[in-house]
Amino acid sequence: MKLLIMGRPGAGKGTQAVNIREYYQIPHISTGDMFRAAIKNQTKLGKEAQRYMDQGALVPDEVTIGIVEERLSEPDCQKGFLLDGFPRTIAQAEALDKYLTKNGVQLDAVLDVDVPADILVRRMVGRRVCKNCGATYHVEFNPPKAEGICDVCGKPLIQRADDTEQTAVNRLAVYDKQTAPLLEFYAKKNILKTVNGNQPLSKVFEDIKVVLGD
Ligand code: AP5
Ligand code: MG
Repeated sequence: MKLLIMGRPGAGKGTQAVNIREYYQIPHISTGDMFRAAIKNQTKLGKEAQRYMDQGALVPDEVTIGIVEERLSEPDCQKGFLLDGFPRTIAQAEALDKYLTKNGVQLDAVLDVDVPADILVRRMVGRRVCKNCGATYHVEFNPPKAEGICDVCGKPLIQRADDTEQTAVNRLAVYDKQTAPLLEFYAKKNILKTVNGNQPLSKVFEDIKVVLGD
């Protein structure tokens, strides 16, 4: 399976990506997670990415395309992969196309987790993530068993730096302007599969399996 998962900020890409990774046994490649790891380690890439992420703006294409191509060339991606949060601009999508063609690879599907914009700020502001293993929760919609503690590894949960109300609003605007046009790009290739993301988490995954032919 060679897949992309798209959707507005907070739509549930990361949440569903964990299910897809386990079910189809493919690596989950999230550019947002890669940038956050680089920020945590204060690398040169991390310092550059942070300037953009703190505003809810996109990291420049040339930086982002480079890290994705490097990751896709690793051995574990040869049998399949799930890209989450990439591509996000037409330039990124064209670069990905070029890279895949050069390597004789075709995408099986592009999943669009569709959620109306007006409920997403609440999802982002209420999100909590595990500092250690990356598991994602929501204070109302998907709370951990013990408040502030990860169910999976027992470590503390934190709030993402870009999950403030103001940044969330900016991210939604950036999506409309720069990322939404990609839906048309993939629809024209006949590989776009839209899933209703405004349903309980388990139902969203059931629908994903159906559109992927399971
Ligand atoms: P990134 O990390 O990709 O963030 P995003 O696109 O804004 O998406 P999120 O991770 O916020 O949402 P999600 O869809 O994964 O939702 P989740 O499953 O967590 O990017 C962050 C930044 O990095 C960007 O702003 C940019 O600066 C930079 N960047 C990344 N990629 C880039 C690229 N390609 N080019 C340039 N810059 C890039 O769910 C959200 C919350 O909702 C959680 O609390 C969850 O528990 C809850 N939830 C999930 N599903 C449901 C449901 N069905 N019902 C109720 N609650 C739910
Ligand atoms: Mg995510």
